[in-house]
Amino acid sequence: MISFDGISKSRIRFHYDLSTFFYRLLWGVHIHHGLWNENESPRRAQQQLIEHLLNESGIPRGASVIDVGCGMGGSSIHMARDHDCHVTGITLSGMQRRWAGTTAALKGVGRRTRFLRQDAETADFADGSFDYLWSVECTEHLFDKAAFFRRASRWLRPGGGVALCIWLAGDEPHSESDIEQVKGVCDAFLCPSLGTAADYATWLRDAGLEVGNICDLTPRITRTWEICRQRVERTGLTRLAGLAGRDSANFTNNFDLILNAYRSGAMKFASIVAKKPST
Ligand SMILES: C[S@@+](CC[C@H](N)C(=O)[O-])C[C@H]1O[C@@H](n2cnc3c(N)ncnc32)[C@H](O)[C@@H]1O
Repeated sequence: MISFDGISKSRIRFHYDLSTFFYRLLWGVHIHHGLWNENESPRRAQQQLIEHLLNESGIPRGASVIDVGCGMGGSSIHMARDHDCHVTGITLSGMQRRWAGTTAALKGVGRRTRFLRQDAETADFADGSFDYLWSVECTEHLFDKAAFFRRASRWLRPGGGVALCIWLAGDEPHSESDIEQVKGVCDAFLCPSLGTAADYATWLRDAGLEVGNICDLTPRITRTWEICRQRVERTGLTRLAGLAGRDSANFTNNFDLILNAYRSGAMKFASIVAKKPST
């Protein structure tokens, strides 16, 4: 794991409260990478990432799911509408909670979804509350990832599982340049640390889960940042983002940083699934 000091929970919350609107303008309702097979549109590529994770995890129709770091509710609403799932989405941001709740109601899945403003690191749900834990590009913001998985695994029923898409530090050993690049990304994108794939496997196993497929998706997702950079350059969104504070401007100014980190191998992007044993 590569850690970076200087990130606080209040900065992360403030960023998502203020920047959700920019994400919507720049990228759409899903705040996550696209997954490309060929030359699909960015919107289709975002959908493909969700479909990939649904296939990998085997979440059955009608399952009860907690979506940790639900953003504007993109995944939650998809699972509720197209897979009849009952989804609880949690987010640090009150703005996102309202956005997700309103969108779910407009899309006709208000009854199969609920959205809460909760910190995943202090949230408390009864043991066995959900079949699946779904989390797309949120765990990089958590401060104690191992403790989160230990607690969250208790929320799951036996036989359920975990479905994750994650920004990762590349595999160890890390060169000085890898560490510098990852720390730069952590600073710009408000991550207290990035774990390696091996770290995540250890944290999940220590939480009593059986780790399944770890799928390195890096080459299929990097185009996300090329497209974001083009869109920002074309539209002047950085100036607008600057009005929402330094962290938002930082975000739009640092697309090259993350692109280079993926290209150099300092960072990876993967889906990871795990199962809670039935007995
Ligand atoms: C990159 S966005 C991903 C949003 C969503 N999963 C999606 O794919 O559209 C990161 C999300 O993690 C949430 N988040 C960050 N730290 C969190 C925490 N400690 N507890 C709950 N949510 C958190 C943010 O509020 C935001 O919704």
